[in-house]
Amino acid sequence: MLDHSLFVALSTRLLLQKMGIEEQEEAFTLSLLHDIGKIVFFMHIEWYGKLIEEAKLKRESLADMEKDTFGIDHQETGYILGLKWKLPEIFLRVIKHHHSHEITNDTSYYILKFIQEADRFFYYRDEVISSESYILNKEKENLLAETDNLLSILEH
Ligand SMILES: [Fe+2]
Ligand SMILES: [Fe+2]
Repeated sequence: MLDHSLFVALSTRLLLQKMGIEEQEEAFTLSLLHDIGKIVFFMHIEWYGKLIEEAKLKRESLADMEKDTFGIDHQETGYILGLKWKLPEIFLRVIKHHHSHEITNDTSYYILKFIQEADRFFYYRDEVISSESYILNKEKENLLAETDNLLSILEH
């Protein structure tokens, strides 16, 4: 999960850089926490990792599979955690809606849109289906190396 969060954070920051948008550090932190709700499942359900793999293999939405299986998805568990921790409103919004497509269409939510693009790219790296995935695909090796580098720093 940490590698996913780091990869998405680095990718989202890169997209903002390429688009010449400020708030890159804010977007980095927001991306790091987007999947915080997964912690709840990892802590309580031993086979949760398998559900993530299954969603990827079947190309199904993990959030939908969680809802079918547990009655709640990681956006909602994350939102509850975020409320408990009194995270700022923008964090709550990203955590609660990062898999929602209606929100993506609102351009004022561009950070959320980039997080969604980076998130999808993490799972389907060879599919270039948007300008964002095109950019990320070109930088794929650097992003993976940077993720590994950060991971090794955190593990020591
Ligand atoms: Fe997610
Ligand atoms: Fe994610």
